[in-house]
Amino acid sequence: MRYLLIPLILALLAVPTGFAYIHWSKSGPGAGLYSRHWSPDPVQGYWDPDSFYQSPDSVQGVFEGEQCIQCHEGITPGIVTDWRQSHHARSDEIVYCNDCHGNDHQQLVLPTPRICGACHEKQHSEFRDEARYGFPSHVLAMERALDAPHFVDKPKAEVQSCVQCHSVATKCDSCHTRHRFEAAEARRSEACITCHSGPPHPDDETYFASVHGQIYLKEGDGWDWSKTLKKGNYKAPTCAYCHMDGGRHQVAHKSLWKFGLREVNPHTSKNQVLRQRWIRLCSDCHQEQQATQWLAEMDRERKQAWEKLYAAENVLKDLRADGLLHPAASERPPYPMDWLDKIWPRERIGFFEGQASAFYNVSGIERDYFEMWYFDNLGAYKSAAHGNQAGVAEGHQRLTAALQQIEIRADKLRGLAEAERKAGIRSHSPAELWLNGEYTDHNREHN
Ligand code: HEC
Ligand code: HEC
Ligand code: HEC
Ligand code: HEC
Ligand code: HEC
Ligand code: HEC
Ligand code: HEC
Ligand code: HEC
Repeated sequence: MRYLLIPLILALLAVPTGFAYIHWSKSGPGAGLYSRHWSPDPVQGYWDPDSFYQSPDSVQGVFEGEQCIQCHEGITPGIVTDWRQSHHARSDEIVYCNDCHGNDHQQLVLPTPRICGACHEKQHSEFRDEARYGFPSHVLAMERALDAPHFVDKPKAEVQSCVQCHSVATKCDSCHTRHRFEAAEARRSEACITCHSGPPHPDDETYFASVHGQIYLKEGDGWDWSKTLKKGNYKAPTCAYCHMDGGRHQVAHKSLWKFGLREVNPHTSKNQVLRQRWIRLCSDCHQEQQATQWLAEMDRERKQAWEKLYAAENVLKDLRADGLLHPAASERPPYPMDWLDKIWPRERIGFFEGQASAFYNVSGIERDYFEMWYFDNLGAYKSAAHGNQAGVAEGHQRLTAALQQIEIRADKLRGLAEAERKAGIRSHSPAELWLNGEYTDHNREHN
């Protein structure tokens, strides 16, 4: 009985302890599991105002709208000009500076979605409701970035940019920029590409290389952008037309493959529902059957990509089994908060074994795999998703080449190990260098 009860009690205790621990880790200022272990640079107040903004106290006084404008006409004339041209200044009920920033100049606020939401309830509640689709999504983007171990583990100067892009969660001026706040601006594809570009998410590159993007570039300037994103209003789709259809302030409500980091079964009943949403959208302009086939083509592309990725993962797993990957998990520094990793160092390859750890502080061949998975794979995926055929071909050429390189490198490692064994050389453990080396110390000191 005792042998049964003790583990049972321990297990029951572990659950609340786990929750309490997570609660405690999150209890620092700002979002994220590591908030207690990290303090932001001051600029973060502008990206995550609710958590970090501090009003300047250099100007004293409580002002009404017209007074803000009078003084700011001299101080920030660009802002006043933009505001005058905005719907906020031209509506029947003028929305003044103080409606968003407050009246007391020593207690200014920078508006968060909640403040915009006081007048724009529909958009705000749609935005908040996106959380039920989980990650990735705009509403959860800040949390996501701050939860990533490599965010806390790297020097701030290298990671501050994360917060700028991921601030799409903490303020509403990402797509309709201040102080014009124009819906027309947000409907255009340029509104998204400040964040949606670069090798892990080449939406910019793949869209503009597609037929849709090319038509937009050639003819878009002549379209009437005051029209909403509805069937019949636009000849070719922009980012928002496809991802925020009907003006809905959500981007996650159709995502099958999400970021593209792991294989999914695109035919589960849940995913069939999402697929129907895509097909309905494409059918604004195309035959339903054609849209169905295009999406099936994307499934085939994904299947191919995962065959290559799994083949590479297997090469790495075999090397690991033979003790040929250096540094091994026990030879490199664990992430600062990763107590589990301190007790039980884990090797990590691919998504299921941990994404963040693959970024750096791994052996060369693991880094090769990371680049194959994170850059070549995601490039091929976004090309297929956005109809950039040349990009699909190039992505797959790269995937194939990367797999070959990994196989060649693995052979070399095996050859070297064999030669060392024959010559009686004991291979040197790199743990000293990694665990107490310059890079690790530098990180610890600059966080
Ligand atoms: C008498 C002139 C004056 C008036 C009136 C005035 N401001 Fe300012 N405002 C300033 C100055 C000067 C700064 C720059 C302060 C600084 O950087 O220390 C500023 C800065 C700001 C900032 C930027 C704060 C930041 O952290 O970047 C905001 C927002 C702002 N004002 C809003 C308002 C609003 C809203 C009103 C009316 C309620 C208003 N201002 C009225 C002079 C004025
Ligand atoms: C509809 C809401 C809204 C109104 C109205 C508004 N602002 Fe802003 N303002 C914002 C947002 C959003 C930001 C960006 C906040 C951030 O960076 O987190 C901002 C930022 C600022 C900043 C600092 C950032 C910068 O760009 O340098 C100043 C100064 C400012 N506003 C002044 C004004 C003045 C003056 C007026 C009136 C003419 C005004 N605002 C009206 C929403 C508004
Ligand atoms: C005090 C109420 C109020 C607040 C706060 C407010 N708005 Fe507005 N907003 C309005 C009104 C009124 C209009 C004009 C509606 C119209 O013209 O039909 C408007 C219009 C808009 C539009 C449509 C412009 C267009 O091109 O059609 C956008 C986008 C917008 N607001 C964004 C924001 C954002 C972002 C914030 C927060 C930073 C914000 N608003 C805060 C009242 C507000
Ligand atoms: C200020 C930066 C920024 C802008 C501007 C921006 N996004 Fe995003 N977007 C992000 C970030 C960051 C994520 C990832 C969120 C996460 O980590 O959960 C994201 C995620 C997404 C996703 C993935 C959702 C999923 O479930 O896979 C889509 C789709 C998307 N954005 C579309 C758009 C579109 C369309 C626009 C323009 C109308 C746009 N975004 C503008 C930063 C931005
Ligand atoms: C140029 C803008 C940009 C920068 C800089 C950026 N991100 Fe992102 N991030 C995005 C976008 C966009 C996505 C969504 C990609 C998609 O769905 O295709 C994303 C996705 C993610 C995801 C995956 C979300 C999920 O749920 O799968 C994580 C985690 C993440 N980012 C963390 C970070 C961290 C940590 C940094 C800094 C080291 C960072 N990001 C820097 C734009 C950015
Ligand atoms: C990812 C980009 C993006 C973000 C972030 C975003 N919007 Fe928008 N917003 C758009 C697009 C695109 C439209 C045009 C929709 C349409 O044509 O129907 C728009 C339109 C609007 C309008 C005008 C609606 C109308 O029918 O005239 C308002 C108001 C608005 N947004 C408020 C907000 C608020 C409040 C937030 C923050 C919670 C926000 N937006 C964040 C892209 C965005
Ligand atoms: C013709 C419609 C269309 C246009 C235009 C379009 N996309 Fe996509 N996008 C898709 C499809 C389809 C997928 C794959 C969706 C899936 O797997 O569920 C996708 C995938 C994505 C993803 C990955 C997350 C997700 O929703 O699966 C992001 C992020 C994204 N697109 C952003 C953008 C950006 C930014 C632009 C503009 C530069 C853009 N898209 C233009 C249709 C479009
Ligand atoms: C707003 C209208 C519109 C929407 C919505 C739209 N498309 Fe298109 N699409 C076009 C136009 C216009 C063309 C160019 C047709 C031509 O080549 O004559 C095009 C071309 C294409 C092409 C290239 C066709 C070819 O024969 O080479 C593909 C692939 C495509 N679309 C896929 C999609 C998919 C998938 C979706 C939904 C995720 C979608 N489109 C949504 C308007 C749209």
